[in-house]
Amino acid sequence: MAIDQGTTSSRTCIVNQAGGLVAEARETFKQIYPEAGWVEHDPEDIWYSTQRSMRMALEKANIKGSQIRAIGITNQRETVMVWDKKSGKAIYNAIVWQCRRTHDVCEKLKKNKKEKLVTAKTGLVLDPYFSATKIQWLLKNVKGAKDKAKNGELLAGTVDTYLLWKLTAGHSHKTDVSNASRTMLMNIHRGNWDEEMMKLFQVPSSLLPEICPSNSEFGRTQGLGFMPDGIPVTGIVGDQQAALFGQACFDLGESKCTFGTGSFILLNTGTKATKSKNKLLTTIAWQLKGQKTTYALEGGAFVCGAAVQWLRDGLGLFEKSSDVENLAKSVDDTLGVEFVPALTGLGAPHWNAEARGVISGLTRGTTKAHIARATLEAMALQNVDILETMQKDLGKKLKSLRVDGGAAANDLLMKLQADYCATNVVRPKNLETTAMGAAFMAGLGSGFWNSLNDIKKVWAVDKEFKVSMTSAARKQRKARWAAALKKV
Ligand code: G3P
Repeated sequence: MAIDQGTTSSRTCIVNQAGGLVAEARETFKQIYPEAGWVEHDPEDIWYSTQRSMRMALEKANIKGSQIRAIGITNQRETVMVWDKKSGKAIYNAIVWQCRRTHDVCEKLKKNKKEKLVTAKTGLVLDPYFSATKIQWLLKNVKGAKDKAKNGELLAGTVDTYLLWKLTAGHSHKTDVSNASRTMLMNIHRGNWDEEMMKLFQVPSSLLPEICPSNSEFGRTQGLGFMPDGIPVTGIVGDQQAALFGQACFDLGESKCTFGTGSFILLNTGTKATKSKNKLLTTIAWQLKGQKTTYALEGGAFVCGAAVQWLRDGLGLFEKSSDVENLAKSVDDTLGVEFVPALTGLGAPHWNAEARGVISGLTRGTTKAHIARATLEAMALQNVDILETMQKDLGKKLKSLRVDGGAAANDLLMKLQADYCATNVVRPKNLETTAMGAAFMAGLGSGFWNSLNDIKKVWAVDKEFKVSMTSAARKQRKARWAAALKKV
């Protein structure tokens, strides 16, 4: 059973030994926007929607909870909550990865010349995206939190840790290396919580979970009701790293792009933490029990599928997200319209937390089809900025890019992606690679699968999108995008 707790929904997939998807169930939950640029989730919503998706998946698969061999958890990363050890109640909503409320704190630290130190230890850049300044905010702004933390009454964790704690009736307060590497509190070279970072962000160590390899036995279910006690949780991995694992990118130089709420490109850099000269993140991909840590270079654009959701819900341009493809296809170009979807700031490689979205080049001839096409083109172009930066850091061109996530089903978008990044794009048969990554991890941890080779056999190609654009046309298109980026 793979639990995939994402930004907009909680999902559960049940996977068999042949790597087949037996059942999938999903439950969406409320997004809370208390102020411009702030994003929160209610931890109870996260927990209840997760439980409901687990129950529904069991029902759909027509199996009993006792037939589940092991549970894997993958999750939206960086999102963090603090809760009371005794009551299990969160002291405040979860602060979501997209939330920009700690922008000023990060700016101040940058002014005090702390970024170099932070990057050297954590591989990250000083941005409100990561968990550390969010925990700091919670302890500072929730009444009584600091004292309670001092008295050892509180626990903190990313979503994996919170779910594990709930699944085990409060017996297990742990996380895996991949999630820990996104908190900005971990020394990614040593694999432990870093004293200096905890001091810098004023986060006491008593709040933090134990860091474990990604396929450890993290704990066993207790008191769930719909599942027996004692089912082991043997895999935890952050969602983007899970997708890299689920895409079977086990070897150095292999890369994937997930088109989710945001889009995230990760490149396996092997057992070496490769430093970026161009503001990409150095992060932990995973660590298997008894083995060396595998690292990745990562670049993420905060808004990808979320831009299509915004066209649907914010502008009411169509009913279903999948309608965007036909609408965009109905025109040959954007008629000069550019959309920079910086709706929650700009991520890699720009790191501009204050940027906001811009639609430019509107004329009397503009229709919703042009805006839809500009959106898909932007989704591909922002990935080009990341890929080119990654190739600069790597010193060579990527051979191909594996794609997954909901929008990877969009053929037009995949064709644009291959053309704009001048790299062939490979789409696997199973697009559920995030959940598959968690299932594989839990399966390796529980002995359901024995080796990475078993997993490689399960991964299969659906379609390869070949580059067909001329370099002159690509150059022109990229120049228009670069000009639009200057307007945010
Ligand atoms: O870093 C944020 C990322 O983990 C969120 O992923 O799939 O919920 O958009 P997703």
